[in-house]
Amino acid sequence: MKLSRDFLWGGAISAIQTEGAHLEDGKGLSNFDVLPMNDRRLKDVMMDEDNIFTEEGQHYPSHTGIHFREHYKEDIAMLAEMGINAFRFSISWPRLFPNGDEATALESGLAFYESILDELEKHNIEPVITISHFDLPMHLVEHYGGWASRQVVGFYVNYAKTLLSRFGHRVKYWIPFNEMNMVLHIPFIGGGLTFTAADNKLEKKYQAAHHQLLANALTVEAGKQMVPGIQFGCMLAAGKTYPYTCKPEDVFASLESDKHTLFFSDVQVYGKYPNYIAPYFAKHKINIHTEPGDFEILKNNTVDFVSFSYYSSACTAASTEGLETRRTNGFETVKNPYLPPSGSVWQIDPIGLRITMNQLYDRYRIPLFIVENGLGIADEPDKDFHVQDDYRIEYLSNHLRNMKDAVEQDGVELIGYLSWGCIDLVSVSEGKMSKRYGYIYVDADDYGNGTFKRYKKASYHWYKKVIESNGECL
Ligand code: BG6
Repeated sequence: MKLSRDFLWGGAISAIQTEGAHLEDGKGLSNFDVLPMNDRRLKDVMMDEDNIFTEEGQHYPSHTGIHFREHYKEDIAMLAEMGINAFRFSISWPRLFPNGDEATALESGLAFYESILDELEKHNIEPVITISHFDLPMHLVEHYGGWASRQVVGFYVNYAKTLLSRFGHRVKYWIPFNEMNMVLHIPFIGGGLTFTAADNKLEKKYQAAHHQLLANALTVEAGKQMVPGIQFGCMLAAGKTYPYTCKPEDVFASLESDKHTLFFSDVQVYGKYPNYIAPYFAKHKINIHTEPGDFEILKNNTVDFVSFSYYSSACTAASTEGLETRRTNGFETVKNPYLPPSGSVWQIDPIGLRITMNQLYDRYRIPLFIVENGLGIADEPDKDFHVQDDYRIEYLSNHLRNMKDAVEQDGVELIGYLSWGCIDLVSVSEGKMSKRYGYIYVDADDYGNGTFKRYKKASYHWYKKVIESNGECL
């Protein structure tokens, strides 16, 4: 099996990391807007301590982003010239519903996203919309407790239905939530969750997860009723967890770790809570509130494809004491001694992509969609702003080889490949502009200074050839 002629080649971004235009045209504040660029941004937010919302004199990177709201026409044209035929972007919920609990959306917000769709259509680029990418109105955090509140399900479904009725006829691929499993690792970013010392943190996270799963299923239900042929995907931060050794205890620990990542997609694909979760809930004294009918809704509204991000594999052991750890996407993992040293960059494991694709396809047997992958690293432009990013080309080409092997040798069905941050954007974990993923360089620094002009990197020309050759020239 070869990559099909209609394989989707593209890139992905999110609203919070690119748009800027902070509070313009009535936009409300989002959870991401209150995260300063400092090393506390990934820590849990405790309501009874000095908290993240009150820090003075900090830089808030989402307030500028890359000024995508100003530059989107030029950006889409540059991406089109590179040859992409798919583009994933997210809608900012508070740009449409500033507080999140209003009945109707701001027309200014809808018009902006309509105009993005017009640009994509002009260039024959298939849109892929993420409805919620780490982005929820702060009012819902402060007045309702974020996704821990069941009321937020109703507000979200109203928001999602607004999008589906306005854009459903123009957009085939929808991702209701970005990386739902992140609510377990970065709960403020993934679910707008804050904690008190008295909280059973895990219980709160799984309560929020239940609400997001329900909101996802209700969105699928609404979309399928409104628009024939529309497709929905779950989206998870994927990456197989390896056992540190082949000791059975370590292998079992890796299996356990995978289950917690895959819990979300298990529910979204199979429409029911997996058997392993009840004993886990009992062990951790997790009692989540559900209502009659919830499980029926989950059962009847499953997803059509499994989309995922892949940056690296993970690694664990039955006892991790004394083992060196590394930071990866949203959490710490045991350092894999077989992977090359990667400095401050997340561990690099191209074969891990093939392994992860096999893992997901074996488990779910529905098409996969890679909607994020890439190398986040500082670039050093020369005086003419040329970036010779051979390290990025090497990373991407090794991952694409493994992606092709998964399709061609292992028979995995794959809709497409969208690389993350196809244009530089601010990083979630560090809040820095200098952690760059793009084919296009944006002249801005970590504090939002710069001309914000766009420049093609060496990888831009490389990816153009990859797309032209449908993945033959890597
Ligand atoms: C994923 C997110 O978790 O990882 C993206 O969906 C994020 O929004 C990406 O940017 C890379 O992480 P970081 O921390 O390098 O931005």
